[in-house]
Amino acid sequence: MDNMTPNTEMEHAKQEAPAVEGNPVGPRMEKLAATGKLTSKNADMHWLYEQSVQNAEVEAEFISKVFRKELGREPVFLREDFCGTALLCSEWVKAHADHTALGVDLDGPTLDWGRVNNINPLGDRASAVTLIKDDVRSVTSPRADVLAATNFSWWGFKTRSDLKEYLLGAYSHLNDDGMLLMDCYGGPEAQVPQLEEREQEGFDYVWDQDTFNPITNEVVCKIHFHFPNGSKRKNVFRYDWRLWSLPETCDLLKEIGFRKTVIYWEGADADGEPNGEFQPSREGDLAPAWVAYILAFR
Ligand SMILES: C[S@@+](CC[C@H](N)C(=O)[O-])C[C@H]1O[C@@H](n2cnc3c(N)ncnc32)[C@H](O)[C@@H]1O
Repeated sequence: MDNMTPNTEMEHAKQEAPAVEGNPVGPRMEKLAATGKLTSKNADMHWLYEQSVQNAEVEAEFISKVFRKELGREPVFLREDFCGTALLCSEWVKAHADHTALGVDLDGPTLDWGRVNNINPLGDRASAVTLIKDDVRSVTSPRADVLAATNFSWWGFKTRSDLKEYLLGAYSHLNDDGMLLMDCYGGPEAQVPQLEEREQEGFDYVWDQDTFNPITNEVVCKIHFHFPNGSKRKNVFRYDWRLWSLPETCDLLKEIGFRKTVIYWEGADADGEPNGEFQPSREGDLAPAWVAYILAFR
């Protein structure tokens, strides 16, 4: 499985992550980024990760919107599996005074970082978030309105039986009219070893599709960061995944008992570039690389 904390052994004991004190790194990182002074030595890797690959505020809004549309009520309790730094949990409870969240992740130091940087700054609302350090398959209660597994983390389950075990658990962790949300990517470019470099404010983010096995659909991907002074942090995060396809995943969800699955496909702007807006679709399009959400309803 992938690990958000480089060079750190995962700890497997189940426990509610303890209260951790400390100063959030955000203000210092933002200042360094704005002045072009981030380097491999002073940059915080979780902060870089969040800036590069997460848009949790938009994701929290999207979850509420599709839940309302499909189920006709407001979701309240979100469980975030593979929560990492629990950014989605924090945006979820910020979005509405009634919202509560549970984040589950194996990695203690990553949860600690999330507690200091994303949860403690919520002030009075911090108590609306519970973080548990454990395997997502071992945390069986309480039941949630929404279970979110994002940034492809569920791809760590590489056999059908392992994925089925996880999804059976997900089904039983949802309320009777609950919703499972998972993201997925694909397209011909997802199967080609290549580097994709993107400029962020104050640093470059590099997505490295290192290997692809066409027989097993296994991929190894890595994240590197490059800085204005020429310094680099390589292999900061490493992912060993199986690229699951949309139809095989939806078939499995139906087999498990979800009554309905819907694919939300990303739209494109006038130049054909992904626009970050997702709509229900039955056909998708032939983009060389695409991202979609799989929604499954109990
Ligand atoms: C790709 S990160 C995703 C972080 C965050 N959810 C996001 O959207 O960016 C994957 C996370 O899953 C955690 N993880 C991997 N396997 C796990 C498992 N079986 N149970 C709990 N956490 C797991 C890792 O520790 C890591 O923090």
